Amino acid sequence: MSIKLTFHGHATFSMDVDGTHIVVDPFFAPNNPAATQSAKDIAADYILQTHGHGDHIADTVGLAKRTGALVIANFEIANWLGAQGVEKVHGQHLGGGFHHPHPLGYVKMTPALHGSGLPDGSYGGMPAGFLLNIQGKKIYFAGDTALFSDMALIGAVGLDLAILPIGDNFTMGPDDALLALGYLKPKAVIPCHYNTWPPIAQDVEAWAKRVSQETDTMPIVLNSGDTYTL
Ligand code: NI
Ligand code: MN
Repeated sequence: MSIKLTFHGHATFSMDVDGTHIVVDPFFAPNNPAATQSAKDIAADYILQTHGHGDHIADTVGLAKRTGALVIANFEIANWLGAQGVEKVHGQHLGGGFHHPHPLGYVKMTPALHGSGLPDGSYGGMPAGFLLNIQGKKIYFAGDTALFSDMALIGAVGLDLAILPIGDNFTMGPDDALLALGYLKPKAVIPCHYNTWPPIAQDVEAWAKRVSQETDTMPIVLNSGDTYTL
């Protein structure tokens, strides 16, 4: 039993859980300048969609149609994807969890402070994060968000891993992401949503050093294409 988590650059991740493939926020090459792979090379059984912005949803319709993956998103985005011809969608909403088939398991949507407008201007509902419990590992994808102190409620479950944006400008920056760790108290953190474009350029190694020195959390810095096994 293992979870192989791969970073595809920006805020796109995939997990291989003993052969079941879960993709978070599909944004691949050439849309994603940080990605090393195209969506056509990606396997997916499930797609988790945090919000409707193009840097998270650009490859969702194509990937879902090619693979037949079930897309889990908020109700508004799930309906929008259905209207784009995606056949398998599952709408949830903030605070709501659902027991999906093993090994994905219980997926809860968490609040995020951000926007969620869809690429064609449609209303994308509220942005979200995801709290997962896969093979007993509690993994929190914050999505695009500002810092909020209710992260303490999310962290109360005892997180094994938090995946946080640190890029600033559109989301939390390095200082607020460090404060977020104080609320979430995860065993490990993976930073994302930085260095894709100049407005979100950050010194990730300097941030990781601060995490090591100022918190009890282990920083894990992944380059695009790197895989970390939980
Ligand atoms: Ni966004
Ligand atoms: Mn974004």
